[in-house]
Amino acid sequence: MKVDHIGYLVKDMDRAAEAFAELGFVPVTDVIRDDVPDSAGNVRNVLLRFLENAGTVVELVAPLGEDSDVFNRLQTCGEGPYHICYAVDDLAASMEAMRAKKWRVLRRPSPAVAFGGAPVAFLVKKGAGIVELVEKPAGTA
Ligand code: NI
Repeated sequence: MKVDHIGYLVKDMDRAAEAFAELGFVPVTDVIRDDVPDSAGNVRNVLLRFLENAGTVVELVAPLGEDSDVFNRLQTCGEGPYHICYAVDDLAASMEAMRAKKWRVLRRPSPAVAFGGAPVAFLVKKGAGIVELVEKPAGTA
C-alpha cells in the first residue's frame, strides 16, 4: 500500500496553512467543506485542505462543530498528525484483508468529497493507530 497523505488535525485552517508554509508546504487545494451525508446518513463535518512538500502530502483537518468526527479527538489530543492514508486498488478487498488481521473498522466506506467521491474508510489497530484507505485504482490521479 502506498502512502497517500498524512492527516493532521488542526483548530484553524488559515493558521495551520501559514505554519506549514514555514515548513515548505504549498497548498494544492482550496479549503474543502465535507459536510455531505453519505448513504447511511453519516456526516464527517470537517474542513479539509491538502498541502504538498516534495511529494509528501499533508491533509489539514479541522472540525466544523461539536458534532464533527474529529471534535473530541482535537479536545483530547490537541493538534498533530492522527492518521496516515493509503491508496489501494480495491477498497473492499483491502478492508477484508485487514479485518482478517484484526483491524477494527472505525468508519465504513463512504464517498469522500476531497477525492471526487472516491470511497474512503477508516480502520484502527493497537500498535498502529488510525489508518485511512482511499480507493485509487492504479492509473488514476
Ligand atoms: Ni485523510
